[in-house]
Amino acid sequence: MLSKLSLLLGNSSSRNWKIEDFSGIDQLHLGGIPATLALLDWLPSSAKDGLDIGCGLGGTSRLLSATRDCNMLGLDLNHQYIEAAMLLNKNIHPEPSCQFVVGNSLNLPFPKHSFDFVISQHASMNIDQKETLLKGLYRVLRPQGHLLIHEIMLQQQATESNVLYPTPWAHEKNDSHLCHWHTFKDLALAIGFKVDNFEDNTEAALTWIRQTRQQKLKPPFTPPLALGPSAAVMSTNVLSNIEAGYLTVVSARLCKP
Ligand SMILES: C[S@@+](CC[C@H](N)C(=O)[O-])C[C@H]1O[C@@H](n2cnc3c(N)ncnc32)[C@H](O)[C@@H]1O
Repeated sequence: MLSKLSLLLGNSSSRNWKIEDFSGIDQLHLGGIPATLALLDWLPSSAKDGLDIGCGLGGTSRLLSATRDCNMLGLDLNHQYIEAAMLLNKNIHPEPSCQFVVGNSLNLPFPKHSFDFVISQHASMNIDQKETLLKGLYRVLRPQGHLLIHEIMLQQQATESNVLYPTPWAHEKNDSHLCHWHTFKDLALAIGFKVDNFEDNTEAALTWIRQTRQQKLKPPFTPPLALGPSAAVMSTNVLSNIEAGYLTVVSARLCKP
C-alpha cells in the first residue's frame, strides 16, 4: 500500500491536496466525514490536546486539527497505516497539526492526565480486553476530559457467530471482538466514566452505505488502496450484517469527572 500511495502522490499533477481528497482511504468508518463532524459536535471548544486511538490513516486527526485547531496524536498498531498517515499529512498544505505513532491502545505509552479528549472511531472492535482499554483511556484523560466513541457493536440479541466476515476490521471471526452497548457502558461506568451523550446511528449508517455503494468513487484514493482487494466484499458484508439486525452503530460521549 505504501509504495502505491507514494507513487500516486508523487505522480499526481495536483500538489494541492485537501483533507477531503483522502476520505476514501482515511475515513475507514461508516458515515465518512459527516459522521466524524457530527461526533465532533459533542467536543467542548476548550478541548485541544487529543488522542486518536486506532487512527488508521489519520483522517479523523486531520479533521480535528483543521476544524477544531486541536493538537492531535494518532496511534495505531499497524505501522504501514502510521507511515501512510504521515505521508498523507505531509502532502497537505498547510500541514495539519498531527503526529502519528505506532502503538497499542491497550498499553498507552503516555503519563496520566495527558489529553483533554480521546476519540475512537471503529477502533475497539478488534480489542477483546475492553476493561483494560477503558482503564487506560481513563488514566490518560485529564479530569473533565472526554472519550468520544463511534463504534460498531452487536445488536441486543445478536452474537459474534451471527456476523458474516470478512469485514473492514476483521478477516475472520477470530480477529473480531464485538460487544453489546450495555456491556461497554457498564464497564465504563464501573471504571468511573459518566455517559453524557448517546446516539444510535444505525439507520444513518445504513443510508450512507447504500448511497456510497451507488456512487462512483473518485479514484485514485478508494477503499481497496487501504483495505486490499476484499474491500468490496467487506462492504457487502457490513451492509448484510446491519440489514439482518446483527450489528448496530453507536456514538457516545463519556466524561471523566
Ligand atoms: C476500522 S480501522 C478505523 C481507522 C480509523 N479510526 C478511521 O475511522 O478511519 C481500525 C483501526 O484500529 C487499529 N487497531 C486495532 N487494534 C488496535 C490496538 N490494539 N491498538 C491500536 N490500534 C489498533 C487497526 O490497525 C485499524 O487501523
